Amino acid sequence: PTPTQDELKTQVAQAALAYLVPGDIIGVGTGSTVNKFIEALAGIKQNVRAAVSSSEASTERLRALGITVLDANDVERLSVYVDGADEIDGSGCMVKGGGAALTREKIVAALADRFICIADESKLVARLGAFPLPVEVVPMATAHVVRRFRAMGGTASLRMRGSAPLVTDNGQHILDVRGLTIEDPLAMESAINQWPGVVTVGIFAHQRAQVCLLGTPSGVRTIQY
Ligand code: A5P
Repeated sequence: PTPTQDELKTQVAQAALAYLVPGDIIGVGTGSTVNKFIEALAGIKQNVRAAVSSSEASTERLRALGITVLDANDVERLSVYVDGADEIDGSGCMVKGGGAALTREKIVAALADRFICIADESKLVARLGAFPLPVEVVPMATAHVVRRFRAMGGTASLRMRGSAPLVTDNGQHILDVRGLTIEDPLAMESAINQWPGVVTVGIFAHQRAQVCLLGTPSGVRTIQY
């Protein structure tokens, strides 16, 4: 039988264990694929000194396993950061933030020597941009940022949670931008990051993946960048 998407996520989560350095502090991302990775950590937790996490949700799951979670300020360097993606292209550039954790994800990724992306094959794209681009914004700047995206052909909508705007772990809002063409991820990340009120844009080109473990029906495909 063809594996379900859930099974593909479990496969890549387990494959990521091989990239961990025993006794090291590991960087842990956010999302349903990472949740599988956290479950897989349960079996080897004696080899995990501690973790730095990119969300309250992942922190809770790690602590439930008895894994110590450290503040990012108390860690200078991580050997590995393991996280999912909403899209990843042929050079390891990603769109992230579907789970609203993009700012902390970028911070923890910046501490790590290697970004190991774990994803099912539906996430691999020739060019980024079909997935609506998440952008974390200071609420006061929302209308201004929406207009700037409109000027470049994008339609930005405020992410809601029920009837109120979603509030991130950092107390900010998220815009999801449709209709953009992301031809040069590095340039676009740099440009949007300069806009007043933008906390983080969900393009991960400066902090791209060094390894992608892609779940396919014929097994885990490893892409090295
Ligand atoms: C969280 O903010 C995102 O960047 C996630 O990494 C992304 O949404 C992947 O999530 P799934 O593993 O649930 O697809």
